[in-house]
Amino acid sequence: MLALSEPKNMHRVRADEASRLKMQDSLRSAAEAMETPNDTMLRLFNGALEVPMIKAGVDIGLFKMLVASQTPLTLAKIANTTKAEPVFLGRILRYLAATRFITETGKDQFSANLSTQSLADPAIEGSLNYIFAIAIPAYMALPEFLRQTSFQAPPGTQCAWQQSVKTDMDWFPYYKQHPEQLSYFQKLMSVPRDGEWFDVVPFAEEAANVSPDRALFVDIGGSIGHQSKRLRSKYPTLPGRVIVQDLPETVNVATPAPGVEFMAYDFFTAQPVQGARFYYMRTVLHDWDEENSIKILKNTAAAMSAGSQLLIDEMALPNKDVHWWSACLDLHMYTMLNALERTVDQWHDLLGKAGLKVVDIRTYASVMKNSIIVAERL
Ligand SMILES: C[S@@+](CC[C@H](N)C(=O)[O-])C[C@H]1O[C@@H](n2cnc3c(N)ncnc32)[C@H](O)[C@@H]1O
Repeated sequence: MLALSEPKNMHRVRADEASRLKMQDSLRSAAEAMETPNDTMLRLFNGALEVPMIKAGVDIGLFKMLVASQTPLTLAKIANTTKAEPVFLGRILRYLAATRFITETGKDQFSANLSTQSLADPAIEGSLNYIFAIAIPAYMALPEFLRQTSFQAPPGTQCAWQQSVKTDMDWFPYYKQHPEQLSYFQKLMSVPRDGEWFDVVPFAEEAANVSPDRALFVDIGGSIGHQSKRLRSKYPTLPGRVIVQDLPETVNVATPAPGVEFMAYDFFTAQPVQGARFYYMRTVLHDWDEENSIKILKNTAAAMSAGSQLLIDEMALPNKDVHWWSACLDLHMYTMLNALERTVDQWHDLLGKAGLKVVDIRTYASVMKNSIIVAERL
């Protein structure tokens, strides 16, 4: 996940994904088992301050500055660079050290640690801006929204996020008018998810015979083309067109890449690229409720030929024992868009309603259940 390399004196614990997440959960459970009720309250109290203080650190360039320095930095040096008032800055640094986001190496002396490294990563920084400016205000509006709706989830796009920004507009048209905030979201989308989906799609065998003028890969709602660009660099000689489709405000800011075409397309309209070998949707349908997802899927199904497959790159959740992050993301989708993460059963049901059938579910992140759901026309 890191764009920055780790310095020699810092080492992350390496383990396979499942063991790493299991160990983290066990250690957290152990710490929680030692909590008094007051400790639990204080943990939650502090949790409410963490993101705002990290945002403050990001805004003054603190984490990047500490990471860039080979030696610990003094409070006076950091104050001089950031122009912050030294005594007040010292209180912020003391808090960030006490919460382990930076390390206090001596009196009024601070250095980077592994968390600082993560916070200095541009993709993580953009994601933090998203959490602070967009997600947290929507979470604050959630209890009142749930009270008003009596805990129902009616069809459509009405959600707590709309109340937080005081709009009747839908999410994507709204952020078209707020490009800076849209850029935070695009940064968030660039953070790699657990697992590698290329591991479960044998492109080299399944796409070797595509004719050069046929579409090989249509990345529907593909944002600024992260996955298509990765596909092209991993398989530079595969024949066929690679096309990223998204709304104009998104494809217009994408940086060009050899062998990748960008196309403005609204997926609620007829799919213009017919008979592609693969149509691909990564974390697109989790933005939409059943009614809207069926419309998107029907537009794709209508363009598919007998040799086409739709690859849906999303979580396919089990009916029990869902990881906390998957459950969190599900409620995030509800808060922001009245949408959801789907279970295996819900995927079968949804695709069937759109004239498609699931032919395989290939899970490539065993804990988060990130999966490629392979679908064909019924
Ligand atoms: C959650 S993002 C996923 C982006 C990308 N697939 C990825 O995984 O990084 C959903 C994408 O759907 C796009 N989108 C939303 N409404 C759309 C529409 N009506 N037509 C086409 N794309 C749309 C958004 O601009 C956004 O890039």
